[in-house]
Amino acid sequence: MQNHHLKEHLYKILVIGDLGVGKTSIIKRYVHQNFSPNYRATIGVDFALKVLNLDQETVRLQLWDIAGQERFGNMTRVYYREAMGAFIVFDVTRPSTFEAVTKWKEDLDAKLSLSNGKHVAAVLLANKCDQGRDVLTNNGIKMEQFCQENGFVGWFETSAKENINIDEAAHCLVKHIIANENDLLQSEVADTISPQQESSRGGTCSACFRS
Ligand code: GTP
Ligand code: MG
Repeated sequence: MQNHHLKEHLYKILVIGDLGVGKTSIIKRYVHQNFSPNYRATIGVDFALKVLNLDQETVRLQLWDIAGQERFGNMTRVYYREAMGAFIVFDVTRPSTFEAVTKWKEDLDAKLSLSNGKHVAAVLLANKCDQGRDVLTNNGIKMEQFCQENGFVGWFETSAKENINIDEAAHCLVKHIIANENDLLQSEVADTISPQQESSRGGTCSACFRS
């Protein structure tokens, strides 16, 4: 296949969630195929680029690794701008990080939406599943229901350490981003057609009406 036949996409993706849940580790595993057990808190935001070669198109994911402590800062509105999708991460061994998921989701939806007013695609990651699944089993949380109620398109148990489900989660997010983008393109087409339809129906222009 020749290069000019390939479609190219660039998507900004946010990775958010409480301190130490494994956001940086998930990105490191996904982009650089490695893992470190040492914790160094992210300050502000870090960036990474992942290039996916799908059958007909190249997809570049610009991953925004946002420090957990930023939920209490004033910068998230700036960081979220123009993103097309998000991973919200919690640590399956720490219930408080799961409780924070709804707060992160609310913050995201309050500050960011697509041009058609819909929320951006968000996937929930239950990380450190190599360490057990206490939060998931003890509380009897129905994850499917939780996702529906909180507007997640899906959820995955992940491990940055053991490389579990990270590619699958990214694939799910990208699939939904592409679907949203197609919706947006279609509504743009509809917008450019409708004024003509209106004039052919003899619709009045409110601006002319006033004068
Ligand atoms: P902030 O930057 O402070 O918001 O934290 P973060 O969410 O980026 O967490 P980070 O990736 O730095 O990981 C925190 C700690 O958890 C590190 O010691 C990691 O090695 C460890 N960790 C991350 N993911 C996993 C995992 O899947 N399994 C295990 N066992 N440990 C993990
Ligand atoms: Mg980090």
